[in-house]
Amino acid sequence: MREKTILDYETVELDTKTDELVIIDQTVLPGKTEIIRLKTAQEIWDAIYLLKVRGAPAIGVAAASGIYILAKQIAESMAASGKEDFDTFYRQFLEQKEYLNSARPTAVNLSWALNRMDRLVQSMSDRGISDIIDALKKEAIMIKEEDIKVCKAIGEYGLSLVKPGDGILTHCNAGQLATCKYGTATAPIYLGQERGYHFRVFADETRPLLQGARLTAYELHSAGVDVTLICDNMSATVMKNGWVNAVFVGCDRVAANGDTANKIGTSVVATVAKRYHVPVYICAPTSTIDMDTKTGADIQIEQRPAEEVTEMWYQERMAPEGIKVFNPAFDVTDHDLIAGIVTEYGIAREPYTESFREIFKRKEEMKNGRTKSND
Ligand code: MRU
Repeated sequence: MREKTILDYETVELDTKTDELVIIDQTVLPGKTEIIRLKTAQEIWDAIYLLKVRGAPAIGVAAASGIYILAKQIAESMAASGKEDFDTFYRQFLEQKEYLNSARPTAVNLSWALNRMDRLVQSMSDRGISDIIDALKKEAIMIKEEDIKVCKAIGEYGLSLVKPGDGILTHCNAGQLATCKYGTATAPIYLGQERGYHFRVFADETRPLLQGARLTAYELHSAGVDVTLICDNMSATVMKNGWVNAVFVGCDRVAANGDTANKIGTSVVATVAKRYHVPVYICAPTSTIDMDTKTGADIQIEQRPAEEVTEMWYQERMAPEGIKVFNPAFDVTDHDLIAGIVTEYGIAREPYTESFREIFKRKEEMKNGRTKSND
């Protein structure tokens, strides 16, 4: 029998029997596989803030399940005190939504998922609270199921951009651990693996939180992919050597002009890739494209604690006490460094704003087509 690997665990799951959020604690990977169960607002917020669950799509899925769990608790405490009115419910729902939304600012999937759940509640203001809770549960499950389909579709489009035997460089973790299956940037790699493409993958270790070393290298290696771990300052070397045919990375928010926020260091990789004529592809579900954000300059960049740089992962503190630290979690890759943005509805190219409009039109048409055929 095949040995169980990290890819056999669910990154994020709603336990529908106990109404708990079940996640792999990614802060202790790859040394330990710990599955944790979360029930309170504080536990869910902490798990997102501390990157126990991380990666834009997985954060969105966790937030959707999280707000359902909290909404159910609100409904239960209202029922216990004999209340049933929508306004009281909705006021508390919004408080919890805002609280969860404050956990991480850059990944737009967090607010995207919470807003989707909110719109559902608003559309049911004339219905009983228990109907609303049932609908929220279904929606949270649907958001997870959609994520799997979306990643697979991104994988198919991404695979059309490379050929068997190619070298692919990736930064941070936009893998299965950042989604519910396949990942975004890793989806072409996993699909290629199934079809005998034999890619050679280079995973940047990704300072300071080492998502590349701890997560990407781990999950790709567990899947039997040919993966080589490199330090962040080695991308120019592997590209100059001619070992990289394409860069695939994920993203946390894409602005309307195609500027893209992703893990700190992505824009360095993209700048180096331009020097060596290696195309950079951003793998982005349409839920990560934020047409309300005009350019990268409008994207809020999360700042993280100094300790992540000065002492985390070291046996003892490595930096001088009292040193000033700048620790932005993300950077913005300018759209002119990007060869294409791979979505589940096709590949967007310059000029991005127009290309995104086409993609959203296609999404709408396909959704309407599906609704019609379901009628
Ligand atoms: O801080 P993290 O680990 O949540 O950052 C993750 C990334 O930057 C990913 O590339 C991005 O969220 C896309 S995940 C499919």
